[in-house]
Amino acid sequence: MQLLEKRFELPVLPDRRYWTPEYLASISKTIRELKLARQAVILAHNYMWDPVKEVADFVGDSLGLSQQASRTEAKTIVFCGVHFMAETAAIICPEKLVLLPELKAGCSLSSSITVEELRDWKALHAGAIVVSYVNTSAEVKAESDYCCTSSNAEKVIRSIPPHKKILFLPDKFLGYYLAQRTGRDMEIWQGQCHVHAKINARDIDRIMEAHPYADLLIHPECGCVSSCMYRALQGLPGQPKTYFLSTEGMTRHVRQSKATEFAVATEIGILDRMRKENPDKHFIPVNENAVCEFMKTITPESILRSLEEMVHPITVPSRVAHKARLAIERMLALT
Ligand code: 13P
Ligand code: SF4
Repeated sequence: MQLLEKRFELPVLPDRRYWTPEYLASISKTIRELKLARQAVILAHNYMWDPVKEVADFVGDSLGLSQQASRTEAKTIVFCGVHFMAETAAIICPEKLVLLPELKAGCSLSSSITVEELRDWKALHAGAIVVSYVNTSAEVKAESDYCCTSSNAEKVIRSIPPHKKILFLPDKFLGYYLAQRTGRDMEIWQGQCHVHAKINARDIDRIMEAHPYADLLIHPECGCVSSCMYRALQGLPGQPKTYFLSTEGMTRHVRQSKATEFAVATEIGILDRMRKENPDKHFIPVNENAVCEFMKTITPESILRSLEEMVHPITVPSRVAHKARLAIERMLALT
């Protein structure tokens, strides 16, 4: 299996010194007025800066954002997420204008496989079913049989006839997690997200020693997934209550759980929302350096410019979109 060289450049985090409450209130007001004038809807991923989530009509995970994009009646979607997410919205809503406020909003995981690499891989495993995580380019989705997100990946894998071999891409940690959960015959691409890969078992041990009664919430892209799953399956006394969840699954869990403390292993942007929605509960980031520089390129300023200048439209060539839509629709039909 190939080892991946670094294929992406990390954007610099924005200067937030000017984000005073007065400044943010004023820019948010202008964004809301312009949004109405443009008949636009703002969709935001859970990892966005808090002031971005504040002006959004809907905040959620990759699956929730795709579903909202397909349901909205608005003519324009301002997509506050990363490029592959806006591309997914453009594929499922070809009649709408999808704007990505900042073109630097890429994704290290999505960069870890190209369509040429996927074609070569498929050629080595004729007859296998290709399942692509949503963090992939439109071209890669177009070469796939199914798409999936972190909230439905297991369901998608289980829907495939048991005798079929599966090629899963691009995230190795999610892939190993799924192979362990389902016992399926899977080839796994060796891609990773630079943010989640660094959340490791040492971080978990350090946090759980300080907070032994906290529920432990782990995004399946994390570097610690296999070891945490192994420990959770052993069921040894004293192990934390461990849950492997998508970002939206995490927010749902903390609302419903009786626990009052939660150790959260994912990008730290999600903690703002958790704290706001659950003021009586306590949230601890497992790794406080888990910041996605790509997601963080989207700012109130870039949203304002996006609405003023109607930039940056995301389009997918119709031949690619048609094939990619089949993989996405197979996923949406299962959820
Ligand atoms: P979710 O689908 O869980 O929101 O994850 C998307 C993502 O990019 C995680 O890094
Ligand atoms: Fe991509 Fe990782 Fe950022 Fe998610 S956190 S968008 S997988 S780089």
